[in-house]
Amino acid sequence: MRIAVIGTGYVGLVTGTCLAESGNEVTCVDIDREKIERLKRRDVPIYEPGLSELVSRNLEAERLAFTTDLAAAVPGARLVFLAVGTPPSDDGSADLSALWKVIDAIAPHLRAESIVITKSTVPVGTATRVAARLKELTGRECDVASNPEFLKEGAALDDFQKPDRVVVGARRAEVADVLRDLYAPFLRTENPFLVMSPESAEMTKYVANALLATKISFINEMANLCERMQADIDDVRRGIGHDQRIGFAFLFPGAGYGGSCFPKDVLALSSMARERQLPAQILDAVHQVNNRQKTVLAEKIERHFGGNLKGKTIAIWGLSFKPRTDDIRDAPSLVLIDRLLKLGARLQVHDPEAMPNIRAIYGDKLAYAELPMDAVSGADALAIVTEWGEFRNPEFGEIKSRMRQPVIFDGRNLYNPRQMKSLGFTYHCIGKMPIQ
Ligand SMILES: NC(=O)c1ccc[n+]([C@@H]2O[C@H](COP(=O)([O-])OP(=O)(O)OC[C@H]3O[C@@H](n4cnc5c(N)ncnc54)[C@H](O)[C@@H]3O)[C@@H](O)[C@H]2O)c1
Repeated sequence: MRIAVIGTGYVGLVTGTCLAESGNEVTCVDIDREKIERLKRRDVPIYEPGLSELVSRNLEAERLAFTTDLAAAVPGARLVFLAVGTPPSDDGSADLSALWKVIDAIAPHLRAESIVITKSTVPVGTATRVAARLKELTGRECDVASNPEFLKEGAALDDFQKPDRVVVGARRAEVADVLRDLYAPFLRTENPFLVMSPESAEMTKYVANALLATKISFINEMANLCERMQADIDDVRRGIGHDQRIGFAFLFPGAGYGGSCFPKDVLALSSMARERQLPAQILDAVHQVNNRQKTVLAEKIERHFGGNLKGKTIAIWGLSFKPRTDDIRDAPSLVLIDRLLKLGARLQVHDPEAMPNIRAIYGDKLAYAELPMDAVSGADALAIVTEWGEFRNPEFGEIKSRMRQPVIFDGRNLYNPRQMKSLGFTYHCIGKMPIQ
């Protein structure tokens, strides 16, 4: 099948590459010329484990192509996936300007049998509005389906190629059947292909993200309470998780959630509720709790140093919003960096993949360490913001010998407080009192 994917970011590039890998002829389109030129040279502009190899293989097999020219990609395509960004507007609603630009631009190139598929996360009702706009522009009914994406950055290839479910919102059974065939290679273990209305499919994506964000904000609020009540959130977590109605997934306390999805999707769903005169009290609280949680690590550091960080050097490990990605959109590290800089600290930062993106924002305001151990050299404290695998079992003796003061603020609860104390560290984490 010939496919066009419009928008070649984290979702579009993974979608296009995986669909090429399963034997389709895919052209990925983007307005970002530099991105497309790099991709043509097999230089993948984002970090996603395994993606570079897969892009190279499919470029070589000529199943995958990149262009900035919609007119070259769309006319031959049976399926046109829309994967452009849908960032938040000032009022929290999803900004669909990129999507509408694409709709207007592709309309003249669509064939009668083309199916337009929204893969971007879009407000409920968008697929229907897209169909109406295409009818206005083409003078005929156009098939539009919703196919929300559930991949996680850092495990995107696995998630796309072995999805736990595929959700499709389509009005016509024939449209759903085309997508069922497309996804069949990825659903060989009988995971479900769920067909529903476009509205339900669009809502499914928001509800999934809102619930996951709710779990994180809930456990973070409980963690902060534990700290005030001499309880240990990790013990509490274990205490509740064995209850099968609760479970362990997504109930890890930390420095708040970030990324390009949870923050904006919680806001967008709340905005949809407001438009319909329904208060979204839980969603609004989830968002507020998260914003507050992103400041918790900075407050602990500030308290420890008596509010004055002038002349202090703080090392930061982990800048991406989560491990195994270079994505820093809405990352808790940004809040920490801004606050510590404001308090006069000197920052030595390290991240395995996200440093170029951080450097693009902060330039020479930060010192960039190629290795984690270089970041801690001469530091008065180490703050851990992202739980990259390489931070889990560091050489504590070396850390201690390199630091000016052996103090760790762990925003991801990676270490055992008792062990840290016995190693001579002052160790602060989330949801438990420091061991005296
Ligand atoms: N990143 C994720 O983990 C994830 C997961 C599921 C769903 N989503 C959703 O998928 C969508 C895309 O997210 P992303 O993270 O891939 O965004 P992204 O910012 O990485 O990529 C979007 C791409 O669209 C391109 N673009 C913008 N306007 C365009 C136009 N007119 N024509 C062609 N290309 C254009 C941009 O240049 C960019 O490369 C969003 O709606 C997001 O909510 C993201």
